[in-house]
Order: sequence, then C-alpha cells, then structure tokens
Amino acid sequence: MASLGHDVVGYDIDPSKVDQLKAGILPIYEPGLDQMLTDVLAKGKLRATSKLAEAISDAEFVFTCVPTPQDDDGSADLSYVIAASQAMKSLLKPGAVVVTKSTVPVGSAQRVEAAIDRDDIHVASNPEFLREGAAVYDFQNPDRIVVGARSADVAQRVMDLYAKVECPKVLTSQPAAELIKYASNSFLAIKLSFVNDVAALCEAAGADSREVMRGMGLDTRIGNRFLEPGPGWGGSCFPKDTRALASIADSFGLQIPLIAAAIASNETAHKRVADRVMNALGGSLVGKTIAVLGLTFKADTDDTRESPAISVIERLIGRGGKVVAYDPLVNKYDLAGLSLADSPIAAATGAQALVVLTEWAEFKSIDAKEILSAMSGKVVIDTRNVFDQKTWETTGATFPSTVSPRTI
Ligand SMILES: NC(=O)c1ccc[n+]([C@@H]2O[C@H](COP(=O)([O-])OP(=O)(O)OC[C@H]3O[C@@H](n4cnc5c(N)ncnc54)[C@H](O)[C@@H]3O)[C@@H](O)[C@H]2O)c1
Repeated sequence: MASLGHDVVGYDIDPSKVDQLKAGILPIYEPGLDQMLTDVLAKGKLRATSKLAEAISDAEFVFTCVPTPQDDDGSADLSYVIAASQAMKSLLKPGAVVVTKSTVPVGSAQRVEAAIDRDDIHVASNPEFLREGAAVYDFQNPDRIVVGARSADVAQRVMDLYAKVECPKVLTSQPAAELIKYASNSFLAIKLSFVNDVAALCEAAGADSREVMRGMGLDTRIGNRFLEPGPGWGGSCFPKDTRALASIADSFGLQIPLIAAAIASNETAHKRVADRVMNALGGSLVGKTIAVLGLTFKADTDDTRESPAISVIERLIGRGGKVVAYDPLVNKYDLAGLSLADSPIAAATGAQALVVLTEWAEFKSIDAKEILSAMSGKVVIDTRNVFDQKTWETTGATFPSTVSPRTI
C-alpha cells in the first residue's frame, strides 16, 4: 500500500517485527520485497510502531492482517481478529473503515462490527489472494481485487486505494467477499488433488503425467495452470481454508463432499511418496538414510507451515528412516530424525535415496554425476519433475515408479 503512494503505519503485537521493519529488515523472505521496503522507508511512506494508538488514531482505513489459524474442530479461529477489533475499538477516529485482510469465514464482518460496537465505524472485507513467493508481483498484477461492504460507497472508498492497480475490481456484499476467498482456495486445492490422483493413475497405467497434463491444460475450460503433479499441497492457506470451508458449510447444514475428498486425497498423496521411497529401498526404511531436497511448501518462500515436504519426511522417519535435508532458505527445523545439510551434495552423501520435495530452481542445475557418486544408493524420486530424467539415468540413477519419457 505504501508503494502505491499511501501513508502507511504498521503495527504488530510482536515488537521484534516492528524493530526489524524500522531497521529495514524483513521478517520473511519474499522476492523483490526487500527493495520495495527500502524504497518506501526512504520515501517516508511506511513507518512501524509498537503503539497501537500511534498507528490507528489518525487512520482513515485500518487493515487487519492477523492470523486466522485452524481451530481444533477445523473451523477458522477468529480470536485474533476479534482481539484486534476490541483493542482498536476506542482508538478509531470517527468515520474510519476497518478492512479485514485476513481470510475469515462468512459472517465475520458482523462479528467485527459487534466487537467494535460503534455506529460511526464501517467494516469492509478485502480478501488477499497473493501467492507466497510471488507476493510483490501478485500485489501489482492481481487477477482481481474484491471488496465487500454494507454500502457501495464504503466498498468503493476501499477500492479507490487500489486506483493505480489495473485489474478487474469486484464490489460485493460482505458475505460474498468472504466466500470468494474460501471458495477460490478450495477450488484450487480440489484441482491439485485431482491432478495428483490422475498422476498416480498415469504411473500405474504407464503414461507420462506431464504429457497428460499438457493435453488436458490446452482445453481452455481447464487451463494450463495448477496442473503440475507434486507430493501433495500444503502451506499456510490451503489446508486451513479447505477445512474452514467444510466447517462453514457444515454450520449451514450443508455438505461439500468434494472438499472432504480433496483433503483425503492430499493425505494419500503424502503417503504415496513415502510408500514409493520405501518400496524403492526394498520394503523397509529401518537403518536407511534418505536425502531430501526442499522443505518449504513451495519454491521462493521460507514458509514451512503445513509443508507437504515435512509431512512426507515425518512419514519416512516414522517408518524408521533417517532424513538429511537441504533447503536453500531453511537452516533450522526441529524434528527428531531429521538433520539439515548446507548443500545438496552434503545432504546426499552416503544416502540410499534422493527425494525432491520442493521445486527450487537451483535443483535443476545439480550435477547428477557428482551427487550420485556421493550417494550409497542410486534411487532418485523427483516428485516435482525438476531433474532431466534422461540425463540422470545416463549417469546411473534409477527413477522408481516413474515413466521414462517416451520416444514416439
Ligand atoms: N500468507 C499468505 O500468503 C496469505 C495469503 C492470503 C491470505 N492470508 C491470510 O492473511 C492472514 C495473515 O496470514 P499471515 O501468513 O500473514 O500470518 P502471520 O502469522 O505470518 O502474520 C500475522 C501477524 O499478525 C500479528 N498479530 C497477531 N495478533 C495481532 C494483533 N492483535 N495486533 C497486531 N498484530 C497482531 C502477529 O504477531 C504476526 O506478525 C491469515 O488470515 C491468512 O489466511 C495469508
């Protein structure tokens, strides 16, 4: 928002994040964000404070971007949103608009209104669709911006903040805005689960899943994005948002069986990778060392929340294996049985199998010969299709349960 020219004051209950921002240090990794932060700090467009009153008492718009984690029953935990609303209640200036950026279930806007309990304050919903790892690009080039509010005037005022961003702009009611976010994420998760299930079928049937996905994706009704098979989906959004949508439907006495099926399929996808490693190593992982490349839930982020890589690693360790992993951005992860290495070669040295779980671009240029000669086995399981299989096979790698590229 500061890069669009607005005067922004950031507040966080965690003072260390405020101190970091003031010093121009990002608490997360996100391509291009460091330069953007430097620019807006230099222009005085972004400030950070640990004092809530300082952040909001002059603000025309207050965006809440607090966590909405999964509660024990699968529903979204709104306690951070409500706590933030209550904390700002007496500090907001008359006419201010409180804008919910957090992903919240339908009906949350009314709960925020009730928590603030002031007739002179407006509440709007402006769900965030950016992808981690592409946050700056997505903010500047969104597919759409959605704002929901009780009145079209308030929704338009929030939308005007994005006047410099060119994209379709969708003004809706509060519940529609809230549902658009969950429905979008759940639809994408369902698409990925389907892709992973079809990829498993491809393997069983002797088809190259990449050929199948290309053939499917050329149908413009399907589209060629989100058609890459992998070890299963994860991250900070899809797992909690799919469960939350199922829980929202349940609260209305409705079921969306596709969501439950996608969640179950995803667990199977994680298990399938562990099964494949175990089968390739003779049916047991006891006493075996497995090298893993990638811990984050996808490339270009340092986020390991609900990462499929971690889920697969937990399964490998649970079956008696020892895992040594390398990830370009993760140098600490507490899990018994997992140790971290500082390079792919260090992770692979002495390992019986090499498993790629995140699609980091740097893995493409790994020297197959060098890695294989450091390993004690030759099994390579590339769940993200980052290696050129032919090249690796010529240096002695075996790719179990994957189909060799066909010569037509
Ligand atoms: N991460 C994403 O890519 C993404 C994308 C779209 C939507 N979202 C949604 O955005 C929301 C935030 O996600 P995130 O990944 O940024 O979470 P996060 O946990 O990384 O960051 C949330 C921040 O809120 C702070 N916080 C908690 N309570 C607060 C309070 N009362 N006042 C001020 N600060 C407070 C925390 O200290 C933390 O720094 C969630 O609802 C999430 O679903 C996230």
